[in-house]
Amino acid sequence: MHRFATLWFMKILAFETSCDETAVAVVNAATREILADKIYSQTTEHLQYGGVVPEIASRAHLERLQPLTQTALNKAGLALEDIDAIAATIGPGLTGALLMGATFAKMLALTAKKPFLGVNHLEGHALSPLLTEPDLTFPYLLLQMSGGHCQFELIKGVGSYKTLGATLDDAVGECFDKSAKLLGLPYPGGPEIEKLATKGDDRAVAFPVAKKNSGLDFSFSGLKTSVRNYIQKQPNLTKRAQADIAASFQYTIAKTLSKKTSLAFDVTNVSHFVIAGGVAANKTIRTALQTMCAERNVRFFAPPLKYCTDNAVMIAWTAGLRLLNGDTPHTLNARVRPRWPLNEMTLGAKSV
Ligand code: KG4
Ligand code: ZN
Repeated sequence: MHRFATLWFMKILAFETSCDETAVAVVNAATREILADKIYSQTTEHLQYGGVVPEIASRAHLERLQPLTQTALNKAGLALEDIDAIAATIGPGLTGALLMGATFAKMLALTAKKPFLGVNHLEGHALSPLLTEPDLTFPYLLLQMSGGHCQFELIKGVGSYKTLGATLDDAVGECFDKSAKLLGLPYPGGPEIEKLATKGDDRAVAFPVAKKNSGLDFSFSGLKTSVRNYIQKQPNLTKRAQADIAASFQYTIAKTLSKKTSLAFDVTNVSHFVIAGGVAANKTIRTALQTMCAERNVRFFAPPLKYCTDNAVMIAWTAGLRLLNGDTPHTLNARVRPRWPLNEMTLGAKSV
């Protein structure tokens, strides 16, 4: 076993800057304690552009990292010297945004002489449920639903993952965001659609469900196009008609996700199922998946919402789990990886 695989790696200071959240956390990976969890969301910076602007995201990360780190250390009641290892998301994500967090973390690691570990954001989402759900055990099926991803992952253990299906075009959150924009709703569109949908009839418009024969892969661009076509045919939409579109759209997504998840249960035979990513916050989708799990006798886990969306706790926890399982810290030459599939994350593999 590697000399680093000891309980030295307890208190991890971690950074998450892969997209538009600047997050810093301190987690004791041995005791599972969250000592600090600070997040700054850049939503207002990007609001007027209808989506995340990479350049603006990078600048905002840079401005926030130092004060947020100080606040996190104060909250944890720790000084930098007390930290055992420093981690940062190094992929996948926006290159400039990743570079901000990774470079800041490396600089701290260099000056404080601490080990550094670059973490895969998707692995963070994959392992974070273990921190908050004590009854969850390997193997489990994870449905990752965010603005950038929509995929099924079979989580067999730390460093052992199999992608069973992914989106062939838009991610589910992206589909929410783009459809919301078509409805004239602000970014991020998911929560806006959910709010508007409460005032509509979810069977008012019959949008297409999943493509036949697509197995465990997803495709959401067709649904987005249907929303566009439907709206174009009716230029003067009433508030009620907009709400009907939102409700029907959400219903279609929930139905698609349950259908695919049921198929994933047929293939994997797992008894534990976890949802993660920003879209997991959606109550209609949660209820549809939960109901289907009850029918299939599969235990349903939905971690607390704040850990479903991007955060640095999952990065600290993942770094801790990897180090405690014998992974080796990276050198400060570790590169950011805008694309970095989860199935490359085997323990001990040369990952960056
Ligand atoms: O995981 P996340 O915070 O960031 C990444 O994309 O990595 O996910 C953000 C996505 C956005 O597309 C947002 O519209 C969607 O999650 N989202 C929702 C809801 N809350 C956030 N989608 C549907 N319903 C919601 N309540
Ligand atoms: Zn994410």
